[in-house]
Amino acid sequence: MKIAIGHTRWATHGVASNENAHPHFDSENSLALVHNGIIENFDEIKNFLINKKKIFLSETDSEVLAHLIAYNYKKDIIKALKSSLDIIKGSYAIAFIHKDFPKRIILASKDSPMAIGFTENKKEIIISSDPNSFVGRNLHVLFLQNDELGFIENNEIFIFNKNLKKIAKQAEKVNCKNISFSKNNFEHYMLKEIYEQPFTIQKTILGRISKNSQNCYFEEHTIDIDFLNRFKNIKLIACGTSYHASLLASYLFEDISKIETRAYIGSEMRFQNILNIKESLIIAISQSGETADTILPVKELKKNGATVLSIINKSNSTLSRESDYSLYLKAGPEFSVCSTKAFTSQISLLLLLAIHFEKLKNNNKSNSDYLIKNLLKVPNEIKKLLKRAEEIKKLSIKYAKYENFYFLGKNLMYVTAVEAALKLKEISYINATAYPAGEMKHGPLALVNGNLPIVAFMANDKTYDKMYSNVIEAKTRGSPILAIAKKKDKDIEKIADDVFYIDDSIDETAIFSSSVFGQLFAYYIAKERNTDIDQPRNLAKSVTVE
Ligand code: F6R
Repeated sequence: MKIAIGHTRWATHGVASNENAHPHFDSENSLALVHNGIIENFDEIKNFLINKKKIFLSETDSEVLAHLIAYNYKKDIIKALKSSLDIIKGSYAIAFIHKDFPKRIILASKDSPMAIGFTENKKEIIISSDPNSFVGRNLHVLFLQNDELGFIENNEIFIFNKNLKKIAKQAEKVNCKNISFSKNNFEHYMLKEIYEQPFTIQKTILGRISKNSQNCYFEEHTIDIDFLNRFKNIKLIACGTSYHASLLASYLFEDISKIETRAYIGSEMRFQNILNIKESLIIAISQSGETADTILPVKELKKNGATVLSIINKSNSTLSRESDYSLYLKAGPEFSVCSTKAFTSQISLLLLLAIHFEKLKNNNKSNSDYLIKNLLKVPNEIKKLLKRAEEIKKLSIKYAKYENFYFLGKNLMYVTAVEAALKLKEISYINATAYPAGEMKHGPLALVNGNLPIVAFMANDKTYDKMYSNVIEAKTRGSPILAIAKKKDKDIEKIADDVFYIDDSIDETAIFSSSVFGQLFAYYIAKERNTDIDQPRNLAKSVTVE
């Protein structure tokens, strides 16, 4: 069996350079190590090792692991690893090789995912910090849990618990063979994934709605009134785009299901005083299911007695293993760093949940059947919008020259604007700031001038008139206005320089077409600016460090 290790580094400590690239070595070049995660007390350990005459070649936190394990190695390499890990603070998925064991890869993980995929006969064993790398393969997969360590040697996998007792782990069969890396003739994964949305939304909702459109089902778990009655409120946790989906859900759960709801940013939540944990239904949302900033608060809440329902795109993920219940988006793998189809599937599923909760609470007197009917129209509305991509492209080319944008909206359209602004920032490197339109007069209006276009998300009947006034306030001060409005609201043409009309859908589903407009607008501006659309600088698809 031939062995090899490698790592695509996402820089945390030290710039992206050859010196900081993995693998890292100890001073005697006896071992080579790759690490995903963050060693929080690396400074202290590094000083200790420098005093022991160890020579460091990089600025990374990871390099201390190589020196430390080599320093602790007397006779037993596993014991050396264990005693090193005992003093490490932080998160890690580690793989290393040592010259004394030329056929062995040694591993450990804590708060950082590590999957071991292997063929039936174990002739091939692949270790990865992201099971996405198994795409195209049909493998058995073991997931290392916190504090587990082990090694691979001669077609065998050996795993130990934290007391160094050998353990037998149950492998899962993960069939990624039929998942294709193909872009299907699209120039970028992002564009392909945008175009998949009529289908992916259907995958998320169909099969969860009864034939007469009156009931919702979640095949993964029975969510009935007894389940719902256990909770007084809902707390959502997520990051980035998934956080925007959870913000939308906080409006939907309060408006439709009449349940008190709050959305939390994962990386902030750990430092907030969270009240009434046991009476809250915690809903964690993550496309990848591997985001450390979402998983760590989930773990803490679980320790304090929380019930966690997660909404994930990828099965076999760390978040699904940490949660009591998981619902899956079924949107298929998302390869573009910039999330698109996962977002629209998240909001479809969350809208369905909001409707389902309303139905459970109101028994036979539910008044949300019209919401289901309108949700079912969404895939077709998006199909129609995608046929108008050329119109959006023309608008994007016109606006691509600006360096700063305000994205405005109110109510559900405010969150839609926040998500659309993130798309633009992420892939075109243009500064786009989203505000609830009413906030403009409380400060942001000071920046408004002819060089700062406003992208006004107007497709919300509840707030259209107020939004109209707020847009006039910016127009009066010279901002070019691009409005996204419902077809019936033609009066917007009086004040907007450009208008993109979407179908006259109800407010709860207008978020879909408006979001897809935002995705294509960002895509074509980025294309005009010639940026790396699928892999924007400084970003990674799944962020497994805090
Ligand atoms: C933006 C984007 C990110 C992710 C965020 C959370 O386009 O993709 O903001 O939404 O990193 O990732 P997940 O959903 O995998 O937890």
